[in-house]
Amino acid sequence: MIYISKIRNNRPLVGRTSYPYNIPSIINLEELKFRKEVTFIIGENGSGKSTLVEAIAINAGFNPEGGSRNFNFSTQDSHSALFEDIQLIRTANRNKDGFFLRAESFYNVATAVDEYIVQDSYGGSLHERSHGESFLALLHHRLNGKGLYIFDEPESALSIISQLNMLTRIRQLVEKSSQFIIATHSPILMAYPDADIYQVSAEGINLVAYEDTEQYRLTKYFMNNRTKMLSELGIDL
Ligand SMILES: Nc1ncnc2c1ncn2[C@@H]1O[C@H](COP(=O)(O)OP(=O)(O)OP(=O)(O)O)[C@@H](O)[C@H]1O
Ligand SMILES: [Mg+2]
Repeated sequence: MIYISKIRNNRPLVGRTSYPYNIPSIINLEELKFRKEVTFIIGENGSGKSTLVEAIAINAGFNPEGGSRNFNFSTQDSHSALFEDIQLIRTANRNKDGFFLRAESFYNVATAVDEYIVQDSYGGSLHERSHGESFLALLHHRLNGKGLYIFDEPESALSIISQLNMLTRIRQLVEKSSQFIIATHSPILMAYPDADIYQVSAEGINLVAYEDTEQYRLTKYFMNNRTKMLSELGIDL
């Protein structure tokens, strides 16, 4: 199910001056379509992924720190003003569930869960679990479908096996009418079939095929040519 079909930047080009418009990928952003249930946002460190997904999440009503729409806590106002400029184009469908995960502030989310939410829906306190265990508990116990889920680098806590587990869970939630927008560096997560992958770079925000992503090509090349590449890096065995 698609809940957000598009975002549009309403700020005229001439008004795009200070941060976040110093980011090359953001300055020319006019419109971005969400055509599939799962959309990945990929790109180099500092390319603007978090800035973009945060702006979408805040517009969708989530707390900039992450969490569900029920959470109303804030520790630091670190988000950009991009959210003031963009407009979400929603479909006629309304999501019943939702979650915004910023990997770097997951601890805050766990605290809010402990303080405000009946812990049973997360399978107990998230503070008593490892980072990855907490995230898996969230995926399996808290997210239950008909949801809009926005994640920023969810793989940061996850082992390879857990990332595979996450792919399965994404499929289950998609089958239960959910939409995902995920910023990631993980060549495993972005392999989810029938997803759109947007590459954020100085050239803008453009669709890219999985096999053409640097994450896929470089990881594959590295695995197949490990010794050669290490040697090219000056790291001799
Ligand atoms: N509050 C801020 N003020 C000015 N510039 C900022 C601010 N926050 C981030 N930036 C800059 O905006 C650019 C994009 O940052 P962003 O966090 O969106 O990148 P990213 O693609 O998510 O990177 P990563 O893969 O490392 O998470 C970076 O160059 C960053 O230094
Ligand atoms: Mg980021």
